[in-house]
Amino acid sequence: MNGRNASVGRSLILVNAAHPVPTSALPERLERVRGVSGDILLERDAARALRGLVSAVDGDGSVLAVSGFRGREEQAAIWDEAVAESGASFARSYVARPGCSEHETGLAVDVTLATEPYDFIRPSFPDEGVGREFRRRAAQFGFIERYRAGEEPVTGIAAEPWHFRYVGVHASVIEQLDLPLEAYVARLRRGTSVGRPLRARGLLIWWQPEGEPIPRTPFPLIGASVTNEGGIVVVGRGGHGA
Ligand code: DAL
Ligand code: ZN
Repeated sequence: MNGRNASVGRSLILVNAAHPVPTSALPERLERVRGVSGDILLERDAARALRGLVSAVDGDGSVLAVSGFRGREEQAAIWDEAVAESGASFARSYVARPGCSEHETGLAVDVTLATEPYDFIRPSFPDEGVGREFRRRAAQFGFIERYRAGEEPVTGIAAEPWHFRYVGVHASVIEQLDLPLEAYVARLRRGTSVGRPLRARGLLIWWQPEGEPIPRTPFPLIGASVTNEGGIVVVGRGGHGA
């Protein structure tokens, strides 16, 4: 990436009930990852990162994807079925409204263990053994556990220890700050600019209005992403933050 030629991705896009998936964030390049019954599709970078993570924790064959990319119609069918089978309150807790699911971006994956009989809406992914190791290394490969216990008022979704979201280089910063994605994006939006970046994990990270050119910087830029909140977030390398 270099100044005005920087390309803007969407790894940091915020998707929730108040932030529907824009058409521009539908995945363009899907790749296969190993699933519970056949392959599952994920956006290319997320798929590659998941394969790397699973392999790094010796989870090949034991950590399997239950669900990855879902089209809006599929999300609608899942919503309708959850309401019909388990009621609206259950559906609101565990299923995003059609048009508002991270799964529609191809950046989210639900995982389980091959040894577990899996439930499609609430697969089991215990925090022990390979599951613990997967969580320990997840950020290194660009994933965050997206819906954590205690963060329901912010995320709008019950704890889902099986749902991981690819956010690329932001994952280790989010892990260090210990924030839900909503709060991280809000912090960047309210508290940073090119002249006042967040410095963490050797990165400089800032928010700037969408449509404004990315300025030339004395340090290398390594990425930029739309946020679905009217701005983009730019990442450079070379900060001295912890
Ligand atoms: N289970 C998550 C919230 C989804 O449906 O996107
Ligand atoms: Zn999920």
